Formats: sequence, C-alpha cells, structure tokens
Amino acid sequence: MSRTYRTALVTGASSGIGAIFAEQLAAQGSDLILVARRQDELEKLAQRLREAHGRRVEVIAMDLAKPDPGELLAEEVKRRGLEVDLLVNNAGFGSSAKFHEDGYERDQRMVAVNIGALTELTHAFLPAMVEAGHGAVINIASAAAFQPMPYMSVYGATKAYVLSLTQGLWAEYRGRGVRFLAVCPGPVDTPFFEAAESGSLRQVIPKPMMMTAEAVVSGSLAALARDACVYVPGFMTRLGGVMPRLLPRRLLAATMGRVMNR
Ligand SMILES: NC(=O)c1ccc[n+]([C@@H]2O[C@H](COP(=O)([O-])OP(=O)(O)OC[C@H]3O[C@@H](n4cnc5c(N)ncnc54)[C@H](OP(=O)(O)O)[C@@H]3O)[C@@H](O)[C@H]2O)c1
Repeated sequence: MSRTYRTALVTGASSGIGAIFAEQLAAQGSDLILVARRQDELEKLAQRLREAHGRRVEVIAMDLAKPDPGELLAEEVKRRGLEVDLLVNNAGFGSSAKFHEDGYERDQRMVAVNIGALTELTHAFLPAMVEAGHGAVINIASAAAFQPMPYMSVYGATKAYVLSLTQGLWAEYRGRGVRFLAVCPGPVDTPFFEAAESGSLRQVIPKPMMMTAEAVVSGSLAALARDACVYVPGFMTRLGGVMPRLLPRRLLAATMGRVMNR
C-alpha cells in the first residue's frame, strides 16, 4: 500500500541517486533533510526543490565517515524541530584497486560510511518510527552484494552487509508499521565511477546495463510502496543476479576475478 512520508532524510543527496531521491520525494509531498559533505551542492538542490515543490528542505553538511554521525544528526534534526519518518541511507562510495597497493585509510572511510553510518543512522531514527508505528528505511546496497567483487573486494563486502542487515530488519519489523527496503542496483549513470577512481570500469559496462538514477529511484519508491524487501532495478541486473546462486563460490570468485581484472 502506498503511503506518504512527512519528512525524509536522504544521505548522499549532493549528487547521483541521492539527489534524485530528494527530487522524487519532494514531488510526492515529503519535506526533506539533505545530508552530504558538499554544502554548496546541497544548498543549490534545496533551493530548487523549495521553489519547484514548496516543501520545507533543510541542509545538514556532514562527513559521515567521522565519529558518531547518528547521534550528531539526530541532535541536529531535533534542534530543528523535525521528525524523520523516512530514512534513505544512500551515501556511499567504492574503490577500484589492488588490495595490497591501496592503503587502509580509504577502506576505513568506506566501511565507516557504507556500513557504520548506515547502521548508526538506523539506530538513531528507528526507535521513533517503531513508537509511532509508521516509518521506513531504504538502504542502498548494490548488485555487488550478490557475489565477491575482486579488485573492489571491500566495497562488495560492505554492500553484502547492507543487503543482509536490511533483509534481517525487514523481517524483524514487518507487521509493526516500519518498512525496510534494500535497493541493489547494477551500474547507474552517476559520478560514482569517477569517485571510485574507476572511470575505466564505466567504459566497459555494456550500454543496456547502465541505468538512469531516475529509473532506479522511481522503481525503489514503487517497491517500498508494495513493501518489497529487496529491489533489483532492471532486467539485465536481475538476470545477472541469478548466476551467483547457481555457481559454487570458488568458481564464482574466480570468474569475477577475470571479469574485474581488466
Ligand atoms: N552508480 C552506481 O553504479 C551504483 C551502483 C550500485 C550502488 N550504488 C550506490 O548508490 C549510492 C549512491 O551512489 P551514486 O551512484 O549516486 O554516486 P555519487 O553520485 O558519487 O554519490 C555518492 C554520494 O555519497 C556522498 N558521500 C560520499 N562520502 C560521504 C561522506 N564521507 N559523508 C557524507 N556523504 C558522503 C556524496 O556526497 P559528498 O561527496 O558531497 O559528501 C554523494 O552525495 C552509493 O551507496 C553507491 O554505493 C551506486
């Protein structure tokens, strides 16, 4: 059943999929809290959405890799007199490199944002949703969650965590008015590849596999409305998701190693 969320907090709203979530949610009638590091980008988007949709749009510039993002955000949201009933944990990034050649620093930040902040924010905002018997959490995982991702191994592992966590919480909270949805996109045309220093990966992705952020987000919101647990956007990505279920893990890892090592 479709329902409207009064106030959505979207992380990673300064570009790509997060910015489109903000646009589509404002168009559906939600007020917004936009979170990312680049304040200028968030302010520009916020102004555009206020003018286009007449919604309240707040900006909170924050580095989610720093300690205690959940506590800090919850305090700031409370100070502004808002209550979040839809949390979109979208902020995240990948890294494409040989594990031994890349230092730990980038992996540490990736784990902090993709896993740590997502989990902390869920802890921070879920209790009020449970109490109200109304709310939802959308976690952006990836098709990378379905199999090991050699040369992006840490990224793949973070997304496997997001998928597993979300499925678990979906089952824990079903029937209590709070929905959980894991979104597992294949390649989406956003600045993600450049942020992952993986522009070459973008070049070899077959065109029919590359989706727009608009299609991913509209599909995700429709999936949330029907209380889906996992949403995999696009036929090609759904098809690609079958292979990991059929192959032995060793063969799967070796095959992925050949695919990723271009
Ligand atoms: N594009 C794809 O092919 C694809 C496929 C599957 C899944 N995904 C997932 O989709 C999500 C969104 O990615 P995207 O494709 O839209 O890429 P993107 O355009 O690079 O967006 C990433 C967002 O995350 C934010 N972010 C990164 N590090 C942050 C930090 N330390 N603190 C706060 N915000 C941070 C960025 O904002 P600032 O730089 O302003 O902080 C940006 O708004 C990610 O979780 C990604 O893993 C993407």
